[in-house]
Amino acid sequence: MLSRRLESIKSFILKNDKVVDVGCDHGYLSIELYENKLCQSVIATDINESALDRAKKNIREKNLPIRTVLTDGLKNISTKDYDTVVISGMGTRTILHILDNKAKIKNVKKIILQSNNNRVELREEMNKLGFYLKDEKIIYENKKYYITMLFVKSANKNTKEEIKYGILKKEYFDYYNYVITSYKSIITKLPLKRFKESHALKRSIKELSKLMKKELKK
Ligand SMILES: C[S@@+](CC[C@H](N)C(=O)[O-])C[C@H]1O[C@@H](n2cnc3c(N)ncnc32)[C@H](O)[C@@H]1O
Repeated sequence: MLSRRLESIKSFILKNDKVVDVGCDHGYLSIELYENKLCQSVIATDINESALDRAKKNIREKNLPIRTVLTDGLKNISTKDYDTVVISGMGTRTILHILDNKAKIKNVKKIILQSNNNRVELREEMNKLGFYLKDEKIIYENKKYYITMLFVKSANKNTKEEIKYGILKKEYFDYYNYVITSYKSIITKLPLKRFKESHALKRSIKELSKLMKKELKK
């Protein structure tokens, strides 16, 4: 059974997708997609040989013909073999390094990302790369929140609020309340001389609370 974190990625995959699971590690997502015929094709890749060996072992045990590739990001994969990119369990810097190659994402229609950090920067840079944040899912697992972002190829740009806070939904209010509580706790610990950071956090709390109220009225 997949973790809820990987389930949230799976929920964004559609039957016609040609998926590349970048940094597959154990390969669980690729295996689940292939076994349940949830997409047209899937390639499992990793930059690290021992990680890819883990995936190969799990794939072999299930006797599945899933293609695996040892590569940095999308480098050794032909663009005609994928139109959907999944990158999860990495930081924003690594994710952007992988996607920072126009030729390699020219046929891509959809990118599903789960970054460990700097999500504001990630949403902003994805808009610059020509991908629009269409949806997000937030799950809580192993005492951590995980945000899965669905980007689709589009010249449209997200609003400033969407870039900063994501796609707000009532069902994720626990997470926004957690963010507000964390900001409040940081403010109490900041020394007086860091008043600019303190003001910025207070502004964010106000903005987020206002957006939540607006969402409640919908
Ligand atoms: C924490 S694991 C996440 C595994 C899986 N994607 C998941 O979400 O459960 C991160 C994996 O990304 C791989 N990785 C890191 N940088 C990479 C890159 N530039 N290209 C491909 N894989 C990379 C690592 O080797 C590692 O196996």
